[in-house]
Amino acid sequence: MDRTKPIIALDFQEMDQLEAFINLFDEPLNVKIGMELYYTTGTEMIQKLRAKGHDIFLDLKLHDIPNTVKWAMKTLAKQGVAMINVHALGGKAMMEAAREGLVKGTPEGQNPPILLAVTQLTSTSEEQLKQEQLSMVTIKESVDHLAQLTQAASLNGIVCSPLEAASIKEKFGPAFLTVTPGIRLVTGQDDQKRTATPYQAALNGCDYIVIGRPITQAEDPKEAYQKIKTDWQLGLKELKGERND
Ligand code: C5P
Repeated sequence: MDRTKPIIALDFQEMDQLEAFINLFDEPLNVKIGMELYYTTGTEMIQKLRAKGHDIFLDLKLHDIPNTVKWAMKTLAKQGVAMINVHALGGKAMMEAAREGLVKGTPEGQNPPILLAVTQLTSTSEEQLKQEQLSMVTIKESVDHLAQLTQAASLNGIVCSPLEAASIKEKFGPAFLTVTPGIRLVTGQDDQKRTATPYQAALNGCDYIVIGRPITQAEDPKEAYQKIKTDWQLGLKELKGERND
C-alpha cells in the first residue's frame, strides 16, 4: 500500500453510495472498508475495488480463539487485501495465529497483507477500563503494554492516535507502523476530539493516515481528497528534509 496517499474510510451503509463515491475518482486509491459494509456486501465489493486498482485496508478487528482467527485470516488473505487488523486484547497467541493464517492464505508471489492490532478502543474511558475490564492500570499503560505484545507477536504495527505516534515510534522503533485516524484539516468540527492535520501527522511519524468524513461528506470529495493528500505529502517531504521552498 502506497503510503504517500491517505487511506479513505469508506463508511457508507449501502453499496450504491460507495460505488457513486468511488466513480468520482479516476486514480487508484487507498480505501478502508469496515465491518458495516463488509457484512452486507462482502467479497464482491472487495473484488470490484481490487479490479479498479484500489488498495484495501479491511478493518474487521478480529478477536476470537487463535484457531478461528487463523482460518478467518487465511480466507481473507485470498481476497488480496493490503492491510487488515485484529484486537491486541485477543492475546499474543491469537495475533501469531492471525499472522500464520495470512501467510498461508496469501497467493504465491504476493506479499501477505500488513497486519495491525487495535489496542484499546478510543471509545473506552479510564472509568470503563477499571470497572468493566477490572484493570488496575491507566489507558496509556494498557496501550503501551498491548503495543509491546503486538510487536512481540511480530505484527507490523498498531492503529493509534496521530498524537501518540511519535512516542510509539520512540518506544518500538521506526519499523513498527503507526496507522492513524483522527485526521482533520480543521479541528473541532465533529466527534473526533484528539486530531492532527495530515501535515502534523506526517511530522509526528505516522506511517499511514485514515480519513473519512472530511472527504466522503465534502461538497467536492475530489477536491477535499487532493487537499488532504497534498498536505500529507508536504509533511512527508518536510520530514525527509526535501522541501525547497
Ligand atoms: O470520518 P473519520 O475521518 O472520523 O473516520 C475515521 C475512521 O477511522 C472511521 O472509520 C473510524 O471508525 C475509524 N477509527 C477511528 N478511531 C479509532 C479507530 C478507528 O476514528 N480509534
